[in-house]
Amino acid sequence: MAISNVRGVILAAGKSTRFKTEKCKLIFTVCGQPMILFPIKILKDFNIPITVVLGFKKDEIKSEIKKSGINSIDFVVQENQMGTGNAVKSSQKTWDRDNILIINGDAPLITDEIIKELVEEHNKKKATLTFISAHCFNPSGYGRVIKDKDKLFIVEEKNCTDEQRTITLINAGIYLVSKDFLANNLDKIKKNPVSGEYYITDLVEVASKQNVNVQTIQVPYDNVRGVNNLEELWVAEQIKRSQMIKYWMSRGVRFELAQNIHLDLDIQIGEESFIGTGVHVLRGTKIGKKCTINAFSIIENTKIDDNSHIHSHSVIQDSVIGKNVHVGPFARLRNNVILGDNSTIGNFVEIKNTQIDDNTKTRHLTFLGDTSVGKNVNIGAGTITCNFDGVKKNKTIIEDNCFIGSNNTLIAPVKIGKNSYTAGGSAISGDVPQNTLAIGRSRQKNKVGYTKKLKDKKRQNQSSNKNKNEKSNNNLKINFIGAVKTDKIQENV
Ligand code: UD1
Ligand code: CA
Repeated sequence: MAISNVRGVILAAGKSTRFKTEKCKLIFTVCGQPMILFPIKILKDFNIPITVVLGFKKDEIKSEIKKSGINSIDFVVQENQMGTGNAVKSSQKTWDRDNILIINGDAPLITDEIIKELVEEHNKKKATLTFISAHCFNPSGYGRVIKDKDKLFIVEEKNCTDEQRTITLINAGIYLVSKDFLANNLDKIKKNPVSGEYYITDLVEVASKQNVNVQTIQVPYDNVRGVNNLEELWVAEQIKRSQMIKYWMSRGVRFELAQNIHLDLDIQIGEESFIGTGVHVLRGTKIGKKCTINAFSIIENTKIDDNSHIHSHSVIQDSVIGKNVHVGPFARLRNNVILGDNSTIGNFVEIKNTQIDDNTKTRHLTFLGDTSVGKNVNIGAGTITCNFDGVKKNKTIIEDNCFIGSNNTLIAPVKIGKNSYTAGGSAISGDVPQNTLAIGRSRQKNKVGYTKKLKDKKRQNQSSNKNKNEKSNNNLKINFIGAVKTDKIQENV
């Protein structure tokens, strides 16, 4: 649904002092998505043109927005962070619609339904200013919403009387205001005597005093929590994650220990899949139906097709995994690994930028880098592709039906032709033609009778050592007596 006649203004210039971090709070992520993108995506979905007010760490925030692929945003700069009222003022040149929707940048739990309701109520009640409020048991830090003889006011906590401080109706920091009213009244906001800032919340008082139509809609507090410090970030992420876990449960996904897994926003999990304890399913991951992801595995930006099984402690990034595949335990796949159907990747195997076709197996202690492996290949334990020559990365090609013996070193660039074998322990540095056995190791020599010869030699050695020892002991004795004598002489001196 598109919302017309509204321009969004997202306030993102603040210094985020309460985060106590060098990085701006608005680029910290909630379930994998930077905070600033939550309101932006909702407004985009409604086709509402967006202004983002930047100031503190403006380049970082801008580049995070650009990285997400979202464009056609108008950026304005608030030169000095003189409060939310002043931030809105900095966006004035972009007010090209009849209503301005002002949203704090630090409200990642806001939903599209709430924004829709705000706009509908505003229009229905023909309001000049409508803002969102919520009841909250611990309102500390929020502006309080005060109703006085049918008039609405917002009082910031710093300015509250003791009695006002007990009010539990809080201002959520989201306001829809008529553009004309905003343009004519923003300058009437006075500098706050306590903080020296200009507060957008004071616009509500300005409006109420002029008897214009001011409305508020109440929504659940959990949807409008502000994130001012790392504890509030943690809480917001817990809420978002729980929402997602419940969503995937409702679609047939079984979580072994739902309270200790992590899901990013941008993921999919097919029905009857199983997500084990401590698993992280990160951005861009698509898990098919009836898959199992066992404990403590981390899957990022990876597609896993139906019925595949990722055993515990595997880390998989930027890869594509076919049907009925087994990976792990303790496997690492990264940077464009493609696994065909029915393939098996076993324990302590690392694979990087490698394509493996159907029914191929590499079960133990292997590194494959920049490699292309055909169908029905068996790669023995301890095989290593030497892809780096110190200057550049080189490719290894293993064609269909090959058998790579254990403990092979495949020195790239190298190609093993179809149906070929390499002997265990080989260092393969040259191409192997099709249907061939390659042996890349020195030939074994058997020295028959060697054990007896060695024993005889040892025996001889022992008896000659015995003789030598006896002689040298006698010499020692003589030396020792000599030494005693010398000592005595020295003592006498
Ligand atoms: C604000 C409201 C408070 C409300 C709460 C809801 C004011 C004065 N108070 O308080 O009534 O209950 O949100 O979460 O508005 N910003 C700028 N420029 C500035 C200052 C802030 O762009 O000079 C931006 C921040 O980056 C942030 C947003 O405005 O995204 C809100 O600022 P913040 O300091 O978090 O306001 P609160 O103290 O939470
Ligand atoms: Ca805030």
